[in-house]
Amino acid sequence: MTSETATAEKITYDPLDPKVTDHPYPHYAQLREIAPVHYVPSMNGYVISRWDDVMQVLQDGKTFSSAQFWPELLGEYDPVPEVAPMISLDPPGHVRIRRLANKAFVPGKVNKMGDKIRRVANELIDDIIERHGNEGEFDFVWEFTALFPVTVIADVLGVDLAQREDFKHWVDSLLSAGNRAAYDEEKLAVIEQASKDIRAYFERVFEERKASPGEDLISGFIQAEIDGEKLTRSEVLNMAILLLIGGVETTTNLLGISFTHMKRIAGIQEKLRADPGLIASFVEEMLRYDGPVQMLFRHTTREVEMHGVTIPANTLVMPLLGAANHDERKYGAEAEEFVLERNPKEMMSFGQGPHFCLGFYLSRMEARLAIETLLERFEVLEPLTGEPKWMESYFARGPKGLPVRFKARG
Ligand code: HEM
Repeated sequence: MTSETATAEKITYDPLDPKVTDHPYPHYAQLREIAPVHYVPSMNGYVISRWDDVMQVLQDGKTFSSAQFWPELLGEYDPVPEVAPMISLDPPGHVRIRRLANKAFVPGKVNKMGDKIRRVANELIDDIIERHGNEGEFDFVWEFTALFPVTVIADVLGVDLAQREDFKHWVDSLLSAGNRAAYDEEKLAVIEQASKDIRAYFERVFEERKASPGEDLISGFIQAEIDGEKLTRSEVLNMAILLLIGGVETTTNLLGISFTHMKRIAGIQEKLRADPGLIASFVEEMLRYDGPVQMLFRHTTREVEMHGVTIPANTLVMPLLGAANHDERKYGAEAEEFVLERNPKEMMSFGQGPHFCLGFYLSRMEARLAIETLLERFEVLEPLTGEPKWMESYFARGPKGLPVRFKARG
């Protein structure tokens, strides 16, 4: 037995095993320690777990291409397979479209959405109180976090709020396509239907906005010109779907994760209630400690050697953001702990390099305003468990549901 196979045999990390994705951090620690570049047979690719190496991969888009990202994640369930979305483009195509999208998400524009975001949170809370009274229990994921970011992004895109529960269902189903290798026909049929429905929906919106443009982002994309050229219909559809996927599940999960840990970390909610000024630091450290995106996908454009392992050309490489975020080489001895005062200046949760998250500013603001509003409106908001069921995904992380006990402020 070679030393490489002996090491590989000790490794417990398998992204297709729900026991691993429910509690991934001890597996990441093992990878960082003994196999920082490790071949995973079930994925036919290499996982990268140390901070410096993940950084190197994400910043070097020439060697580690994004072109296969979407095909890897969605496979045959991509609703717009004829063109690659921004997240799956390498330069120069990526730069062209990213420049256009950036304009909608600069801090100046996002800051103007603060009042609207607070209003969305307050309206959802009003609905909860109307349904359940001033005291009792409800599912925080289904009745708040799943609806909050989708309402915000539906407003940005200018799409119909009446369908927000469909959006959530479509996005969840599409993201679950990442695990398609392990799914039966019934589950695959649900994904296929979601893919068709989301496309049909945005085709309709495209036609409506083309005929009568509004102030929304989809109208903006239809009218925008880059170097004298308009975006094609498929490019606009793709952008809308990417923003929906990027903007919904991630922020929903950040809030679900945050409240899960309010049950696990003793006294944390009391601290935030006593000093709401700490909520911003709480969100930053939570993003590092247990982020909603656990891994990304890249493909090598040439043979690469890292830590003595040769990765062939044209091979899947998966930088593990969650593992890099707990690297003791970067964050010191307490890397595995939640430290409210840490204020990490750098984290891997939004990626790095050319594809750094477009919604970085918006999502942090959404999370902060939601938590502020929830703690203001509820004098009690206590998760009943710190061990919820987690989503079936190695890519996205978040609780599937989270029962809470609540008491509204009179
Ligand atoms: C806590 C919430 C969020 C997290 C953790 C997150 C995470 C990420 C990560 C890790 C990437 C990098 C992908 C890569 O390098 O391949 C990314 C890209 C992206 N995110 Fe987010 N995201 C969040 C919220 C949002 C929101 C609210 C939006 C929409 C407004 C959004 C839109 C995008 C887009 C469009 C990209 C692709 C950028 C590009 O390819 O240039 N994200 N996000």
